[in-house]
Amino acid sequence: MNTIAVVLVVVIMILAFIIIMYYNKHLEARSKVSHIPGIHQFQPIILKIPFLTSHINLKSPIYLQIYDLIRKHGRNGVMSISTWKTSSVAIFSPENIKHVMVKYAKDYPKPQEQVYEAFDIFGPNILTTNGDIWRKHRMLSNPAFNDDHIKLVSKVTNQTMVSVTKEYWSHDSFDCNVVEDMTKITLQIMGIAGFGRDMKALNEDQTYDRSKYTMTFREAISRAADEIIIARFRYPKWLLNSPLPYFKNCREVVRNADLYLDDIISTCINDSDPLSKNYDLLSLLVAAKDEENKTGLSRAEIKSDSFIFLVAGHETTASQLMWSLWLLAKHQDVQEKVRKEVNKVFGDREELVHEDYDGLQYLLCVVKESMRLFPPINGVVKVATKNDVLSGYKINKGTIIRVNFYAMQRDPEIWDRPEEFIPERFESSNADHVDPMSYIPFSIGTRKCIGFQFSLTESVFILAHILRCFHIDLTEEQKKSNFVPTPRQFITIKPKELNLQFNRIKDRS
Ligand SMILES: *[C@@H]1O[C@H](CO)[C@@H](O)[C@H](O)[C@H]1NC(C)=O
Ligand SMILES: *[C@@H]1O[C@H](CO)[C@@H](O)[C@H](O)[C@H]1NC(C)=O
Ligand SMILES: *[C@@H]1O[C@H](CO)[C@@H](O)[C@H](O)[C@H]1NC(C)=O
Repeated sequence: MNTIAVVLVVVIMILAFIIIMYYNKHLEARSKVSHIPGIHQFQPIILKIPFLTSHINLKSPIYLQIYDLIRKHGRNGVMSISTWKTSSVAIFSPENIKHVMVKYAKDYPKPQEQVYEAFDIFGPNILTTNGDIWRKHRMLSNPAFNDDHIKLVSKVTNQTMVSVTKEYWSHDSFDCNVVEDMTKITLQIMGIAGFGRDMKALNEDQTYDRSKYTMTFREAISRAADEIIIARFRYPKWLLNSPLPYFKNCREVVRNADLYLDDIISTCINDSDPLSKNYDLLSLLVAAKDEENKTGLSRAEIKSDSFIFLVAGHETTASQLMWSLWLLAKHQDVQEKVRKEVNKVFGDREELVHEDYDGLQYLLCVVKESMRLFPPINGVVKVATKNDVLSGYKINKGTIIRVNFYAMQRDPEIWDRPEEFIPERFESSNADHVDPMSYIPFSIGTRKCIGFQFSLTESVFILAHILRCFHIDLTEEQKKSNFVPTPRQFITIKPKELNLQFNRIKDRS
């Protein structure tokens, strides 16, 4: 009896000690930001303990909880957040974003260890580096996104979509699994525009060189770009390197992706004039040289950058297309207005050429408005390397800054009817109502997304082909239940599931 009591007391004391230790850490983190209005919670976000203030938990996507908290507790474009032993400051006003991302961008680099390490599967790259190393990646990658490349994007999108609308979607009336199909389409386009390779993303072709690989190029690359990055976020290194079957399989994916990329890069480097064949990103990266000393990116840098372009390029555009298609199904009046424009541009052709882009202005407004409401990337993370002041509040050196595009793009002080889908607000006749600093789905400043024109071109052409061929509608069930897709937040924010009714348009008169 006595020993039990002693053990119990010891256990309670140890627990109390641990709690006090962590509470001290919490107070320490909190003291760095507690002079800024915001929320403070001791327990980690994975727990929801009754009777304790619990602002953030794992129940619904965290970005929506943060958005609600910002609406309630944010003041003058800032809100502090301290949970468990971390603290940070969210910013969401054009003034603060201009300060951090443009004017004093060099004092606010990306924090390495916190967020971006997961993307370094093949080494440091244009997304994850800072300072001079980043400058070199960016300078040598810029030419890859030139006009010749964007023309290739137009051409590849046309080829892919003519075949998708006729062959892949062969039925006249069907429930389209929008999440799956948009991912396949953007992966297919990225394979050709990025690597000059047909990934066969739209068919079930499983052929590959079995003496060398254990999976197809598509499987290796698409799993590395999604599942593996997520695993690297979630699990500590020792677990990733453990012999458990799941992690062994993850390493096998990376091994295959690595081999495939090596092979493609070798072929490209061996080719004396790769650009004579194709303006894909990889060929352009291999060809890029510094003007003064004529050196280019190393082989390892080419590999990690081209992989990042693929990750960033297909997942973000696919998410944007999912939200756009849902919004168009929900707003039939907008869909009809876009279709008029699209039909006029197609005329009696079934193809689109690069020059047609300029004629699709209203469709571009739809894409922009969809990205205002549902930016696939809803913010970026920075770290203050100096003491500073934002909205009149002191920012201590070392503070993590969470730049929240999502909250700014729905701020009622900036936007008229912020929750409504109104593409017309982006029409050129209304353009002076949109302050460029308050709309930044591709980020802003020197770290603005290098592929934004790639993405817009691809999106506009994909949607144009779809709208020419199909009426898009909510299903009967969705209409009855006032359906809103449940978001899934990971690398991007996209609908967890989305099925829409596609009906082929036969009479084009
Ligand atoms: C568009 O794609 C179709 C199908 O692949 C092709 O026949 C047509 O020539 C393409 N047009 C252009 C301008 O590339
Ligand atoms: C590239 O060239 C090297 C040396 O000439 C050769 O060993 C290698 O097999 C070539 N690789 C490819 C993929 O053509
Ligand atoms: C060439 O110049 C770039 C930037 O101008 C620099 O980053 C790189 O280190 C230089 N390479 C060599 C071999 O000097």
